[in-house]
Amino acid sequence: MVKGILLAGGYGTRLRPLTYITNKHLLPVYDKPLIEYGLEALYLAGIKEICVVLGGAKPEDVIKYLGNGYKYGVNLSYKWQGEPKGIAHGILCARDFVKEDAFVVHLADNIFPNGISDFVKGFEESEYDARIYLAKVEHPERYGVAEIKDGSLVGLEEKPKKPKSNLIITGIYCLKPSAFEVIEQLKPSWRGELEITEALHNMVISQNYKVEYRILEGPWFDCGTFDNILDAGLFFKERMRGR
Ligand code: DAU
Repeated sequence: MVKGILLAGGYGTRLRPLTYITNKHLLPVYDKPLIEYGLEALYLAGIKEICVVLGGAKPEDVIKYLGNGYKYGVNLSYKWQGEPKGIAHGILCARDFVKEDAFVVHLADNIFPNGISDFVKGFEESEYDARIYLAKVEHPERYGVAEIKDGSLVGLEEKPKKPKSNLIITGIYCLKPSAFEVIEQLKPSWRGELEITEALHNMVISQNYKVEYRILEGPWFDCGTFDNILDAGLFFKERMRGR
């Protein structure tokens, strides 16, 4: 069984003062809270055992809103990250939820409007330890950036000054428990975080792990800023109108 982790920690400092009012992941994107998009994507990909990792600002609002997941048709549990010590640290907080299963990590501020089902399909049975979803963007320096040579993934770098490509890592990762061996070895980066990008990079350059990538062709939103939340809202407004 593939499990899901929705990472919803952090203070959402870029979204202040709204994040003084509630948790970043409850802010509205068109007609529903941001976190519901991720929950729905996991549900539609057939993932019903989901752990929400919380910390930072107003975590209790998230628990109050989502509850035990019954109304979404999923079984929700929660883990406490406390201070945002990085995405990889957040994943580590859910280790005893994952146990021996393959799992999908979905950053709760990301939206994949066309879902993640195709991306997730077949991962559990595959020989890979990790699968990442890359997207082409105009400002790769704001993200984790992939380096690809002759079609092969050769490295990953978090927010580099000089990006080696315009293919960036979106906020969804298929992982096997083997990834914990690598995450455990991480040291805090220059920004004081355990970086998932560094863990994946270490897996890419090691002989012991296999990482594959897929390229996302459709729309994708990283709702970490006011502009992106607005763009995502307008996208869903248009989509609704079309229906
Ligand atoms: O959106 C894709 C990008 O997300 C990737 O390209 C980057 O490689 C990845 O590092 C991440 O970059 P951001 O700068 O956007 O990450 P941010 O700190 O905004 O965190 C994204 C979400 O992850 C946030 O909504 C909550 C969760 N998170 C983050 C941290 C640092 C946690 O739950 N705990 C944490 O400690």
